Amino acid sequence: MSVRRLYDASLMGALALLVLLCMVDLAICSSNFTDQLALLSFKSSIKNDPNNVLSNWTKETNFCGWAGVLCSRRRQRVTGLLLGGMGLEGTISPRVGNLSFLQLLDLSNNSFYGHLTDEIGHLRHLKTLYLFLNMLEGNIPLGLHHCQRLEVISLAGNKFRGRIPKELSTLTSLSELALEQNELIGSIPPSFGNISSLEGFGLEENQIYGNFPTELAQLPNLNLIYLALNYLIGPIPPAIFNKSSMVQIDLNGNAFSGNLPTNNGLFLPNLEVLLLDHNQLTGNIPSSLSNSSNLTMLTLAVNLFTGTVPKHLGNLKHLEVLHLFKNQLTNEPGSIELSFLTDLTNCTSLVHLLVGGNKLSGTLPNSIGNFSNTLQELDVSESQLIGTIPKEIGSLRNVNVLGLANSNLNGNIPSTLGEIESLQRLYLGGNNFHGSIPNEICLLSNLGELYADENKLSGSIPSCIENLRGLQVMTLSHNKLTFTPSSLWKIETLRDLNLSFNSLGGSLDPNIRPSKVLEIVDLSWNQISGSIPRVIGSFQSLTSLNLSRNSFSGPIPNTMGNLITLDYLDLSHNNLSGQIPKSLEALSHIQYMNFSCNKLAGEIPNEGPFMNLTSQSFMENEALCGNPILKVPPCASNSSKKSMIKINLRYILPLIAVMLIFSIGVYIVKRNHGNNVQSQNLIDLYATMEHRTISYLELRRATNDLCEANLLGVGSYGSVYKGVLSDGTIVCCETTRHRNLVGVITACSNPEFRALLYSHNSCLNLLQRIGIMIDVALALEYLHYGQLEPVVHCDLKPSNVLLDEDMVAHVADFGIAKILG
Ligand SMILES: *[C@@H]1O[C@H](CO)[C@@H](O)[C@H](O)[C@H]1NC(C)=O
Ligand SMILES: *[C@@H]1O[C@H](CO)[C@@H](O)[C@H](O)[C@H]1NC(C)=O
Ligand SMILES: *[C@@H]1O[C@H](CO)[C@@H](O)[C@H](O)[C@H]1NC(C)=O
Ligand SMILES: *[C@@H]1O[C@H](CO)[C@@H](O)[C@H](O)[C@H]1NC(C)=O
Ligand SMILES: *[C@@H]1O[C@H](CO)[C@@H](O)[C@H](O)[C@H]1NC(C)=O
Ligand SMILES: *[C@@H]1O[C@H](CO)[C@@H](O)[C@H](O)[C@H]1NC(C)=O
Ligand SMILES: *[C@@H]1O[C@H](CO)[C@@H](O)[C@H](O)[C@H]1NC(C)=O
Ligand SMILES: *[C@@H]1O[C@H](CO)[C@@H](O)[C@H](O)[C@H]1NC(C)=O
Ligand SMILES: *[C@@H]1O[C@H](CO)[C@@H](O)[C@H](O)[C@H]1NC(C)=O
Ligand SMILES: *[C@@H]1O[C@H](CO)[C@@H](O)[C@H](O)[C@H]1NC(C)=O
Ligand SMILES: *[C@@H]1O[C@H](CO)[C@@H](O)[C@H](O)[C@H]1NC(C)=O
Ligand SMILES: *[C@@H]1O[C@H](CO)[C@@H](O)[C@H](O)[C@H]1NC(C)=O
Repeated sequence: MSVRRLYDASLMGALALLVLLCMVDLAICSSNFTDQLALLSFKSSIKNDPNNVLSNWTKETNFCGWAGVLCSRRRQRVTGLLLGGMGLEGTISPRVGNLSFLQLLDLSNNSFYGHLTDEIGHLRHLKTLYLFLNMLEGNIPLGLHHCQRLEVISLAGNKFRGRIPKELSTLTSLSELALEQNELIGSIPPSFGNISSLEGFGLEENQIYGNFPTELAQLPNLNLIYLALNYLIGPIPPAIFNKSSMVQIDLNGNAFSGNLPTNNGLFLPNLEVLLLDHNQLTGNIPSSLSNSSNLTMLTLAVNLFTGTVPKHLGNLKHLEVLHLFKNQLTNEPGSIELSFLTDLTNCTSLVHLLVGGNKLSGTLPNSIGNFSNTLQELDVSESQLIGTIPKEIGSLRNVNVLGLANSNLNGNIPSTLGEIESLQRLYLGGNNFHGSIPNEICLLSNLGELYADENKLSGSIPSCIENLRGLQVMTLSHNKLTFTPSSLWKIETLRDLNLSFNSLGGSLDPNIRPSKVLEIVDLSWNQISGSIPRVIGSFQSLTSLNLSRNSFSGPIPNTMGNLITLDYLDLSHNNLSGQIPKSLEALSHIQYMNFSCNKLAGEIPNEGPFMNLTSQSFMENEALCGNPILKVPPCASNSSKKSMIKINLRYILPLIAVMLIFSIGVYIVKRNHGNNVQSQNLIDLYATMEHRTISYLELRRATNDLCEANLLGVGSYGSVYKGVLSDGTIVCCETTRHRNLVGVITACSNPEFRALLYSHNSCLNLLQRIGIMIDVALALEYLHYGQLEPVVHCDLKPSNVLLDEDMVAHVADFGIAKILG
């Protein structure tokens, strides 16, 4: 089904020529010694002969018996050198030009490099030159045009540069010229229109620009033309479409513009291949194409064709490939169905039918089930389809790609889809499908890719989904799905899973089996709760993990540090708590990481990928600390949390006492509302502060068993309760939430302490502002120098500066204060 290339075609010619050579005897008197020298010179420029083909090329033996050498029978002159596909490596000796009776030179499919020299032009008897599939470079030698008997030239698949020599147009016997897959530039010489013998011309995959010369299109015997993948512009000469000789036309991937000839101007009865895709062609698709009954490949995709898909394409019994996608084709006016699909059910050889990306509006006809069972690929995506998928679709037994994405289809996904046993890729995204995903989908044992995103699918993903043992991609984002069965994680081949923007609830099974191949997991924007399974760290191929916008709680598993291939990690907008594991510093490929809007605390790791993150990745958490550039307070020390707590335990009591002063103040304010007791600076309070330890039992009693009615507030490290001690002292007590500190409770009481007020909207004058600054500075000075060990506040900000009614500032909230040893 693939396009026949010139060098394949030419090989057959070569065989014919071989037979000929064995019979012809050239009666020319000249020394056969020259031939021997030339052959030995050829051998000496071969650097590598892995198959030892040339091992019996020795002076002692008659060269006519050497491997790959053909001689004329009587005169014993070399007429053929057939060394194609021998693995030879080296340059082509210019001495080859001394083989004056050479008719066939086949060095194709080897590793010849360097230049092809002008001496090749001495080969006046040369008819066939096969040099395709080597690594030859430089210009095509001009001398070649002296080989006036040349019939076939194939230089395809080398690295020839420069322009196509127009001198080649003097080769009056040339029937095939294959120059494809080189690095040629310039334009096609119009003089090629003089090579009336030319039947095949190949120039694809070069860098040829300019027009397609009309002269070339008028060649009477032309039947193969390959100009694909160049930079050709302008119209395609109409003559090429009115030529009964044409068999293959491949002009795809250029910038041809203009219309194709109307029906009368298109006469291609022998055409087998017409590839015009990826150009800028306009106008209608001529319906006379349906008279080219030998057509097997017709690709007009990615152009600007308008009008309808021509009728009677059903005549094309040999048609295997029809690519019309990405044009502006419309449906038959007045027809609600896409009737051309019904026509095409008569194409009994059809394999690939791609018509998406047009302006086709209408319903899918029920006849869709009548497509030939040769059909493997059907794509009508990006259309304006309405209605439902006909249940007849199940008859497409051999289809392996089915594209119906991005239209306005609605209804349920038909359960008959499960009958398309060979289905490998299913594209249903971007429609209005509703209802649940039918269980029959699990019958598609060959399914590798399932796209049904952006629909209104609801319910659960069928738990039989694990039967899809080859599934690699599953994209169901933007639906209304509510449940993911844990069997989903049993699909060992799954590589890319996107369930984002659904209503998935429940939690992830902590015992899911780790996958070796899963690379992308996007579960964002759902309602999944519970903890992130620790086993996640064993998903060794994971590159992108998005769990954001869910209700995940608990710690971030430190096993995630094993995900060394990860480049994207989003855990934001969950309820995750605890520390960011330091193990994540090992994730050296990370491009994006987000921990924001959780309840994380402790030190932000600072090595590896963390060096490049900004405050965006950490904002709105509970008590993260680290580099101030991340807009978090600095941490006390770099030592591990555990030992830090151990060291600092002896300071904890006084520290907590300090914190509690403020809390009790708040309480007293409430109690003594209106009293005008003289205010005092914070510093004085510290100075006069006395603290004492009380038993846990006493505290429980004092706070009425930490009853919620006594709860005054919740701080960063714990909750503040009001309590009445046995001696009548009113205290506030703070329970710390940290597990190493539970039970460490202290109380404080200071009747001198006065009102602290907080105001959202007062206007301060300059003097007041300076006063506040001095007060805050004094408070900090005390914290830093006024005690045995300096205390760092870690969270000094305007909202932590409280003003009393005399506008005296008090620094509050030592929630994350650190004591420096
Ligand atoms: C050259 O040709 C003669 C017969 O014309 C033959 O005897 C001789 O072996 C040939 N030489 C070589 C090197 O093949
Ligand atoms: C050289 O090798 C080829 C193929 O291996 C063989 O056909 C030919 O007879 C050999 N010629 C001599 C002179 O040994
Ligand atoms: C090239 O030669 C190799 C063996 O060397 C062969 O397998 C391959 O089919 C050849 N390719 C073509 C295009 O002739
Ligand atoms: C062989 O070719 C070389 C270079 O191409 C040339 O100089 C030489 O004269 C030729 N020898 C014969 C005997 O033709
Ligand atoms: C074709 O050949 C004729 C006569 O040989 C010559 O006059 C003419 O210029 C050639 N055309 C081109 C385009 O070279
Ligand atoms: C098509 O070619 C034929 C001769 O091959 C010619 O008579 C006819 O006028 C051409 N038609 C068009 C539309 O060029
Ligand atoms: C079509 O192809 C067949 C077989 O390849 C050939 O015999 C026939 O001439 C071609 N042309 C038409 C018009 O059928
Ligand atoms: C197909 O060919 C027939 C006979 O050659 C002709 O009558 C008919 O108009 C052609 N159809 C189209 C669409 O060109
Ligand atoms: C299919 O071809 C048959 C004859 O081969 C014809 O009767 C029928 O109308 C065609 N159907 C379509 C849909 O073109
Ligand atoms: C499908 O083909 C069958 C048999 O050829 C025919 O009876 C049926 O009407 C066709 N269905 C449609 C919808 O064209
Ligand atoms: C998942 O799908 C959503 C919606 O189509 C898309 O925005 C997101 O980028 C996808 N996720 C991944 C990791 O590709
Ligand atoms: C940080 O970013 C720079 C530039 O984007 C990059 O070169 C560097 O490797 C990154 N560092 C880490 C640790 O990811």
